Amino acid sequence: MALDAKGARPNDLSALWMPFTANRQFKKAPRLLVAADGMYYRDIDGRQILDATAGLWCVNAGHNRPRIVEAIRRQAGELDYAPGFQMGHPKAFELASQLRDMAPEPYQHVFFTNSGSESVDTALKIAIGYHKMRGEGGRTRLIGREKGYHGVNFGGISVGGIGNNRRFFGPLLPGVDHLPHTHLIEKNRFTRGQPLHGAELADDLEDIIATHGADTIAAVIVEPMAGSAGVILPPKGYLERLREITAKHGILLIFDEVITGFGRLGASFAAERFGVLPDMITLAKGLTNGVIPMGAVLVTGEIHDAFMQGPEHMIELFHGYTYSGNPIASAAGLATLETYREEGLFERAAELESYFEEAVHSLRGKPHVIDIRNMGLVGAIELEPIAGAPTKRAFSAFLKAFEKGVLIRTTGDIIALSPPLIISKAEIDRLVDTLGEVLEEIE
Ligand SMILES: Cc1ncc(COP(=O)(O)O)c(C=O)c1O
Repeated sequence: MALDAKGARPNDLSALWMPFTANRQFKKAPRLLVAADGMYYRDIDGRQILDATAGLWCVNAGHNRPRIVEAIRRQAGELDYAPGFQMGHPKAFELASQLRDMAPEPYQHVFFTNSGSESVDTALKIAIGYHKMRGEGGRTRLIGREKGYHGVNFGGISVGGIGNNRRFFGPLLPGVDHLPHTHLIEKNRFTRGQPLHGAELADDLEDIIATHGADTIAAVIVEPMAGSAGVILPPKGYLERLREITAKHGILLIFDEVITGFGRLGASFAAERFGVLPDMITLAKGLTNGVIPMGAVLVTGEIHDAFMQGPEHMIELFHGYTYSGNPIASAAGLATLETYREEGLFERAAELESYFEEAVHSLRGKPHVIDIRNMGLVGAIELEPIAGAPTKRAFSAFLKAFEKGVLIRTTGDIIALSPPLIISKAEIDRLVDTLGEVLEEIE
């Protein structure tokens, strides 16, 4: 079993500048993982750590899955790399077909990227290009939402709405507006599933349209369930309204499903779970079970076809990445989808939802807890911030949970749970019991 692997302890941590990490704190007390199998990591001290975050919301089928490992091994020895510009290889086409078959009917085409950030910037560019191709080149404005997370590239941080991710990086893209967020804790506290209050916030889109004119707006992008800002669920009726308003004004609607895709909410995509179909869906993470970087954008036939004009020898979309549809990533993607299908993991997530819901809501009443939210296999426990030291309490919870052998994730003062879809009821119990202890013990 891979968990037996022993990792050599690095004796110098200074060269690596770690992403989204408190580098100085980390390097004083490093948390190093050396192996993973199923629901568990093993750290460098040989401790078993329950993975309650599916890595970073990506290892939906759990770790070290034989079909995926074998597919990568085999592909590396067969066709390691093939250029994706003006050339192709069979597995990228097969993976695109399988994604099309898995997705709701409007999505007929797939553009491959290598990450969620790239998927987002690709979708934004396709949106603007689509209008240009149809003779509406004035539609260049993009609308995101406060607290939205759409990765870290310039397009994504421009439409994104997390202050720290934007404010160090200059003026960003011009012509971007933001809808209000829907984190209405006073009204929706301790809601199970979709909250009742806040659908009317979608109507702010009408105001933005009235200010600029619909003929200047290319697209609206939202996460159907905001993950990174701390699990903010769409109020009942909210996504429907966004869809109605965008359709009425000829504006494209993009769902960023980098987190919600591939079973996280108990359905293939959040679009299905909520019954609202956008014009494009951005994906990454669970597409390859997090094992190899890969992302994708699903687009409707109408969007794709708008580009298929002009002489046939001409490139239709001047966009793509060296690794778009990389053979090893494609092989990993195919094996991942097969694992999901074979083990019925999306259905399993749906079946476990009510057990998971009961479990996380049992933490109501524990110290510091001011809200709990959940859907599918996602849970959030929001803590009262320490006055004058925001994020400190949740970070202490993260460190304490790790000490107790459970990996959770925190954002602001919110604990976010997103375990692999293979989690057992006993492991859910252990997770919640540990969190209960953590909340009792932290300041
Ligand atoms: C909704 C959403 N979009 C985009 C991204 C960015 O993905 P990546 O880190 O693969 O670039 C993330 C990552 O968490 C995400 O949650």
